[in-house]
Amino acid sequence: MSGRSVSTVHSPHVLDFISHSVAQTMRIGQRLGELLRRGDVVALRGDLGTGKTHLIKGIVLGLGSTDVVNSPSFVLINQYRAGAQHGRMPIYHADLYRIERLAELPGIGLEEALDDDGVCLIEWAERAEALLPDERLDVHLSHLSETKRVVRFTPHGRRYEELVDTLKKTAFT
Ligand SMILES: Nc1ncnc2c1ncn2[C@@H]1O[C@H](COP(=O)(O)OP(=O)(O)OP(=O)(O)O)[C@@H](O)[C@H]1O
Ligand SMILES: [Mg+2]
Repeated sequence: MSGRSVSTVHSPHVLDFISHSVAQTMRIGQRLGELLRRGDVVALRGDLGTGKTHLIKGIVLGLGSTDVVNSPSFVLINQYRAGAQHGRMPIYHADLYRIERLAELPGIGLEEALDDDGVCLIEWAERAEALLPDERLDVHLSHLSETKRVVRFTPHGRRYEELVDTLKKTAFT
């Protein structure tokens, strides 16, 4: 018997959500956003056009923000403000698609955003793997069809396991 841990075995806390529409992707995002707290980090991955930005639109709504969510392009990190119920904390929305090498990362403000006491939502998080905290929520989106997506939530750390367990209870109601 090998003592190695098998990375393909999923933790019981993983949640696979099948979204059938943009509205459903936004709704699961909104449910997640309602549960987020200061310091939380959500690392999003998945091919172009799988719905990362739409999920984030939902998350930002769930955080009670009235700010308009757009893909950060030139600036790479957008900042929004959560609603009163979430203490009007800052919400950072990074899109690292254009980052090709780790050396390009310093200076865009990601480390500062991660250190700040708001929420950090990172598209193309794999481009900043080395900077990501060990404890975080990974979200992977993939195409099932033109309008369907698999949204997989994989928690790392106790806080995020509890978060996903709570999300599971609300996701299907
Ligand atoms: N179930 C679904 N969930 C989310 N988006 C969907 C769904 N079905 C179709 N779409 C379409 O897929 C596209 C998703 O775009 P979005 O910008 O959110 O993706 P993205 O993952 O952020 O892409 P990029 O990697 O370019 O940033 C939109 O055009 C949206 O209308
Ligand atoms: Mg996007």
